[in-house]
Amino acid sequence: MVPNTQLERSKNRSALHEARTRLRGHRLYRVIRTPKALRTFVEHHVICVLDFMSLVKSLQFDLTCTTVPWTPVQDPDAARLIQSIVLDEETDVRSDGRVQSHFEWYCEAMEELGADLGPIRELVDELRRGRSLADALDASRLPAAARAFGRSTASFLPRDTHVRAAVFLYGREEVIPEMFLPIVDGMENGGVGCEALRSYLVRHVEIDGGTHGPLAEGLLDRLCQRNAAFREEAEVAALEALEARVQLWDAIAQACEADDVVQDRVS
Ligand SMILES: [Fe+2]
Repeated sequence: MVPNTQLERSKNRSALHEARTRLRGHRLYRVIRTPKALRTFVEHHVICVLDFMSLVKSLQFDLTCTTVPWTPVQDPDAARLIQSIVLDEETDVRSDGRVQSHFEWYCEAMEELGADLGPIRELVDELRRGRSLADALDASRLPAAARAFGRSTASFLPRDTHVRAAVFLYGREEVIPEMFLPIVDGMENGGVGCEALRSYLVRHVEIDGGTHGPLAEGLLDRLCQRNAAFREEAEVAALEALEARVQLWDAIAQACEADDVVQDRVS
């Protein structure tokens, strides 16, 4: 007979697989065919780019020494994993030599597309004033679905390290660059300038598949090693994060369809 914990684990695994499959095959990738729809997408999705950094930084706080006086970290391998991810996410080097966070890079892409940066800039200002992510989201002008997604991420921030590492690993946007590059091709063929978005996506194909993905998997394994309860909690949280993403994708697709932008095709 299969023990309960093993049964639960295999149920979680298949639910995670199912949620990832739903994301990969989501209709969102088919409804974004006009500049307006692409603007609608980035105006929602920018919250994912911003709040992802809070997850990453919270892991950096736990796994590396960020206080003075410095003391040696307990697990240098885990520390190195997260530092290398932070290095790229917070301070990547663009092909023209500029050093920039992926969030600022994404904002530049939004600007190039003519998207409204006001709500996300206001949110960042509120965070700089010391407001919590959840409170700042409540007062934000971001679309409701984007605020709901951000609140879901904020709810993970006080949780244990292995839970945040799982949300980080499964919430990463590994399929997005692949799915969006053909969309950007279509836009560019129609004469829409998307250079910043293209380079952002290409960079993520490089780092997510090449280094960050395996690094994040290694990190979660290290945090959960030989602890079945940790693994179970991690998988349940990852599933919640993926569900939040599916809901965001549903809402963006609906917003694009409601604008009737699908009919106004570029190519
Ligand atoms: Fe990134």
